[in-house]
Amino acid sequence: MVNGMIYYGADYYPEQETEQDIGTDISLMVDAGFNAVRMGEFAWIKFEPREGEYDFAWFDSVISRLGEKGIFSLVCTPTACPPVWMIDKHPDILYTDGRGVVRPFGGRRHYCYNNAAYREYSEKIAEETARRYGNNKNVIGFHIDNELAQEGTGRCQCAVCKNLFRGWLEKKYGSIDNLNKIYGTIFWGQTYSRFDQLNPPVKSIEPCGAERIETFFDNPALRLDWERFCSDSIIDFQNIQVGALKRHTDKPVTTNTTGGWTNGVNYYKGCSTLDIVSVDEYPSLRTEDLSATGFGYAFMRGIKDNIKKFWVVESSSGGGLGVWARQGVSQPYPGALTQTAQHAFASGAELLTYFQFRTFRFGAEQLEASVMDIDGIPRRRFKEFQKISAEAKKWTDLLESSSINNETAICFDYDCLWATAIKPFNAHYHYTSYCAKLYRALAKNGIGTDVIPMDETINKYKFVILPAPIIMDCRFKKILGDYVKNGGVVLSTFLTAIKDENNSAPRERVPAGLTELFGITVAEGDPVFDKTRAQVEFSILFSGKPSLLKGANELWTESLEINTANVIGRYADTFRAGEPFASRNDYGKGTAYYVGAGLDDSLLAALTGDIAARHGLEAAPFALKDGMEAVRRVKDGENYYFVFNFNEKSVSFKLDRMYTDAFTGEAVSEDATLAAKECIVIT
Ligand code: GLA
Ligand code: ZN
Repeated sequence: MVNGMIYYGADYYPEQETEQDIGTDISLMVDAGFNAVRMGEFAWIKFEPREGEYDFAWFDSVISRLGEKGIFSLVCTPTACPPVWMIDKHPDILYTDGRGVVRPFGGRRHYCYNNAAYREYSEKIAEETARRYGNNKNVIGFHIDNELAQEGTGRCQCAVCKNLFRGWLEKKYGSIDNLNKIYGTIFWGQTYSRFDQLNPPVKSIEPCGAERIETFFDNPALRLDWERFCSDSIIDFQNIQVGALKRHTDKPVTTNTTGGWTNGVNYYKGCSTLDIVSVDEYPSLRTEDLSATGFGYAFMRGIKDNIKKFWVVESSSGGGLGVWARQGVSQPYPGALTQTAQHAFASGAELLTYFQFRTFRFGAEQLEASVMDIDGIPRRRFKEFQKISAEAKKWTDLLESSSINNETAICFDYDCLWATAIKPFNAHYHYTSYCAKLYRALAKNGIGTDVIPMDETINKYKFVILPAPIIMDCRFKKILGDYVKNGGVVLSTFLTAIKDENNSAPRERVPAGLTELFGITVAEGDPVFDKTRAQVEFSILFSGKPSLLKGANELWTESLEINTANVIGRYADTFRAGEPFASRNDYGKGTAYYVGAGLDDSLLAALTGDIAARHGLEAAPFALKDGMEAVRRVKDGENYYFVFNFNEKSVSFKLDRMYTDAFTGEAVSEDATLAAKECIVIT
C-alpha cells in the first residue's frame, strides 16, 4: 500500500469549476472522508493555453488546497485532449478511422498515437507535469492519458500508420515471400510482391466504424497482425510518457485500463512498464451478480507479474439525474455502494476513486452520475460514502497484512480474444464473457480464481482453465504438457489449438499438438444455435457420490474420438446421442480435462466443483447461495473469508462451523444470515 493507507475518493475536474465551487467541493470531500482525487486528464488547454505558454498555477493551488485537508492527488497527463491550437497547426495529428474518415476536433482522443508531432507534444507535456509535481508531497502518483484506445480510438489508419504497419510487417517477416507463405496469400490470388502493396485490413475489431463497412474478407493472419501492431503502437505512445515522467519523479506511474471488456490494447504488455495497474470498473449497483466485476478485478491482479493489487480509478457512484444512460447507471440499492467498495478492496484494490465528484453541467457527459448531485446537496448516498471512508480505515490493517493466494487460474489471452472477434464461430460467443462465466462457475463453488496470461505463470497454480484457447503456440503447448506431467490439472474447452500463432490452421489432428496430453481427437465441431441444441449428460463423481448431470450445450459443440482418455460426458439426444464430448486423461502426475461443448452456468459449476473436490483444491468449506461470493485472504496462515451477499434480499446459509467476525470479535454461528448487500469478514 502506498503510504500504508487505502485511498478513497473521486475523479475531479476543477478546470470546470469556479474558485468558490472548488472551496465548497473540497469541504464536501472532507465531509465524505475522502483522501484521494484523480485530476487533469482532459485539461491540456488550461495547462498550455498557447503553445509553450504553461499555466499550472491554478492546478498548483487546487493540489495544495486539497493537500491541506489531507486529500492526495493522482495527477494525469492531459494527452486525452489535444488542444485546438495544436490541431490547427498540425491537422495531421487527427485520427483516421477504418473507413478512412478523419475524426474532427470536438470530441476526445481525436489523435493518431503514431503521429511524430503528437508524440513530441505529449512527451513535453508529460515532462512538464512531472517536473512540477514529481516531488510534491501531496501527489501520490502520475496517470497517463485516459483509457487508451477506448471509444474507437485504437486503430488509426492514417498514412503514417499505414507505412509504419508495412515496416512492422517487413521487420517481422524479413521477406515478402516469407509473408506470402505464412499468410497463405495464394488464397484468392492475393500474393504480394512488395511490402508497400500491403494495406491495413478494412475491418478491425474496433467497434467504431466497422459496422458501416460491408463485409470484406480480409486475410485473418493480416488482421491479427494489425491488432498486434496497433496495440504495440499505443503501448509505445504510452511508454514515451512513462519515460518522460520517470525522468522527474520516483512516484508510481499508471494509466487506466478498461479491464477485459474492451480490446484495443494488450494489457499484459502495456502494464509491464507501469508501477501500478489501474482499471475503470463500473459495477452494477442494482443487479445481483457481481462476479463479472470479480472477474475484472482478478484480471487486474494477474496482469503484471502477478502483483495481486491494483487501483480502481473510475467506479460507479450512482447519482445524477440519470438522463445519461450509456453505462446503464442506476441509483444504488441501499448498501450497494458500501458493498462494491468492500468488494474492490477485498479483491486487491488499494485505491478507489469514483467517476466523478460533481455532476457536469456541460458537454457530452452533462448530468452524468457523480458523487455530488448537481445542486451539491448531500443525500442518502453521501452517508454511505462517509461510512465507506470509515470502513476503509477499519479494513486497512487486515488488507495490508493479508493476501490472496488462489490455487486456480483462468488463462486470458489477447490472440484468442482478437482471433475470435476477427473470425467469430458463433455471433453469440464473446471470449471475455465466456472467461467471466467460468469465473462465476468457480465462484459458485467458493473457489477463488486468478486471471493470468497463457505462459509459464500457470506453474504457480494447481488448476488452470483454458477457455476456448483457439490460438496456441508451440512454446505454450510444451509448457502445458510439462505442467500436467508434473502434477498440474488443466481444463481446456472447445476449439483448443485449432490455429497457430499466425492465425492459420495447421494440418494436424485437433487439438493440434495436444492429442496425447488430452488423450482425444476432435472428430467434428459445430456452432450451436437455439434450434440445434442437444442434451448432454455428465457422469462425474460429485460430492463423493457418482451422479449423472444433465443439461444442454450452447455456442459450440464437438464430438470426440477417445484415445487414452476416460469419457466423462456424452450427448443424450440428436444424431450425436451416445457420442462423447467431455473427457479426463491422466497424464504423468496430473490430469487433463477436455470439454468440447459450451455449457450453461449450472453444468459449468457442477463440473468445476467436481474437479475441485476430486483434486482437493482450495474452496470455501461452506456452500454459497446464488448471488454470493466469498473472497479468501490469508493472514499468518489463517483464512479470512470476505463473504458478500450481492442480492437485494437477505440470505441464510450454513457455515461448516462457528466462525469469528474479524472486526467485532463476535461469534458467527453455523446458521448465518446476511442482510441485503451485506458483507461479513469471518475467520
Ligand atoms: C469512461 C471515461 C470517463 C467517462 C466515463 C463515463 O470510463 O474514462 O472519462 O467518460 O467513461 O462513465
Ligand atoms: Zn495514424
